[in-house]
Amino acid sequence: MIPRGRARTDPATRVMAYATAAPGGTVCGVSTRREFRPGDDGVDPYALLTALVVPRPIAWVATVDADGVGNLAPHSFFTVASHRPPIIAFTSIGTKDTLRNIRATGEFTVSLVTEDLAEAANATSASLGPEVDEAEQVGVAMEAGSVVAPPRVAASPAALECRLHSTVGFGASTVIFGEVVAFSVDEAVLDGDHPEFTRLRPVARLGRDEWGLTPEVIHRPRPGQH
Ligand SMILES: Cc1cc2nc3c(=O)[nH]c(=O)nc-3n(C[C@H](O)[C@H](O)[C@H](O)COP(=O)(O)O)c2cc1C
Repeated sequence: MIPRGRARTDPATRVMAYATAAPGGTVCGVSTRREFRPGDDGVDPYALLTALVVPRPIAWVATVDADGVGNLAPHSFFTVASHRPPIIAFTSIGTKDTLRNIRATGEFTVSLVTEDLAEAANATSASLGPEVDEAEQVGVAMEAGSVVAPPRVAASPAALECRLHSTVGFGASTVIFGEVVAFSVDEAVLDGDHPEFTRLRPVARLGRDEWGLTPEVIHRPRPGQH
């Protein structure tokens, strides 16, 4: 008998059994969970993080190197870090061309990856030398940004033009914080000043080689807000 609310973990397998309760408090069964601890043999934190922190938006990051050679690569370790100043963050796992270019020039753009652009975005994740511009290689048309030197993806309905704010290292990973100096949004996806999700149709990255299509939208006003 396992007391409700108390787990029993088998230290060898890290399988945890615990009693579950139905609404009202009756014990209705026993379920099991497996616990994975970073550092244990066979535990792959990358596989677990990418499968569990989902869905992740994809930043299609364009940079140029000091000689003006372009670079384009998708990054799904990507989020908002601050609203004022407007700062976004993405992570380079290892030192890649994107990170080197941002360190050299201090600028980058982030274009949204829509359903139509998913194949092309994936193709630009190929490991190519710094002398190769993935946009040219894959045939992704770029257009000039308004404020920063790196271009943005012409067919993407929205792009954030960013200047490097700072970086923070964790082991082999580097989180890049960029201040957004311009948001460029296609009129076609705007409802007034609001970029409308069902018109943007962004895709997301999940675990392994899984991608998520645009999910259904539901509306839930926050308590106290109408
Ligand atoms: C959808 C998707 C998301 C990715 N997310 C990341 C990421 O968050 N960080 C990272 O370092 N690499 C990520 N990658 C792999 C990079 O895109 C890949 O290593 C690329 O070659 C880096 O390009 P660069 O060397 O030109 O900067 C991702 C790949 C795909 C397809």
